[in-house]
Amino acid sequence: MRILITGATNGMGRGVAEALAASDDERNELILLCRSEERGKAAVKDLEARGARASLAVCDLADLSAVRRVAGELREAYGYLDAIFVNAGLGYAAGRTETVDGLDSHFQVNYLSQFYLTLGLIDLLRASERGGRVVFNATPGGRILWDDLQLTRSWSYETGIRQAMAAKRMLLLTLDERYGRGERPVSFICFSIPKTVWTNQVAIIPAPMRIAAGIMRALGRFISMERCGEIMAPLFLCGEGEIRSRSGRLLTWKGGRFVELPEDPAVIDGEARRRLYELSVGLCEGAGLRLGEWEGPRPAERPGP
Ligand SMILES: NC(=O)c1ccc[n+]([C@@H]2O[C@H](COP(=O)([O-])OP(=O)(O)OC[C@H]3O[C@@H](n4cnc5c(N)ncnc54)[C@H](OP(=O)(O)O)[C@@H]3O)[C@@H](O)[C@H]2O)c1
Repeated sequence: MRILITGATNGMGRGVAEALAASDDERNELILLCRSEERGKAAVKDLEARGARASLAVCDLADLSAVRRVAGELREAYGYLDAIFVNAGLGYAAGRTETVDGLDSHFQVNYLSQFYLTLGLIDLLRASERGGRVVFNATPGGRILWDDLQLTRSWSYETGIRQAMAAKRMLLLTLDERYGRGERPVSFICFSIPKTVWTNQVAIIPAPMRIAAGIMRALGRFISMERCGEIMAPLFLCGEGEIRSRSGRLLTWKGGRFVELPEDPAVIDGEARRRLYELSVGLCEGAGLRLGEWEGPRPAERPGP
């Protein structure tokens, strides 16, 4: 399988990449979208040592022009993709920051840039022979702050994370409606890990929170990123029939299997989803990106090095 993972240097993305690299069934090809070339190269080296074919796509999701560039480069280099893991994200932050595009960092990094990236790569997923799929790293809860989308008045890092989670789940349903049917359907899954994962987040939170996290870990409230990867890997590797049957769902892992979680009516609401989609398109266009720019026939895949 050829799988693009956003945020594979650390945390859940890294756990999934390691599990996919070690997969017994085949030698998976991993494309790691990372903001740091140095950390990305180190991840490529490590994953290759674990058995994967791996390559790096450098892109800071806090810069929409970089997302546009990398989407174009991926389209040039590859004729198809089997899966995308929409994972990269900001967690804890001491204060509100803005991206180079003047947007709230959580809103853009965790949601908007990956909205644009996913749409830019949809036809590569449609070209998959294995059942193209997008897996969103998501959690239940959260809501869209329609009057303060950029959180200038109501910022907290939790609000930023939770708003982006609601936005990703709304996008999942919209994409499933648009691209989950027809001749070459793509599947869209949101996955919520059932326990908190011990990731790089623990290294960046303030000391009192870190102490609390240590206590929670001792009480068994955390799982490792390796275990997270093992749980999630089947979503990327399972057959087309299985992933199709789960498309459009918010899933978690319970009792040794994937189960569906109920979705919030405010996320399902078609009018709200249309509004968010149009707002998202408008914000991308405001930064000079056009969603339709890649329509039309694509060149054949370039031969590998
Ligand atoms: N930890 C959990 O229990 C948990 C549970 C459910 C959902 N989540 C969500 O999962 C996602 C990953 O969280 P995590 O806990 O794994 O965090 P993490 O260990 O901090 O990893 C975050 C990843 O995203 C990358 N990233 C951050 N900003 C980026 C940017 N501007 N451009 C490109 N890549 C960027 C990071 O790259 P660098 O190495 O360059 O920083 C890193 O690879 C987040 O969206 C989080 O909200 C986490």
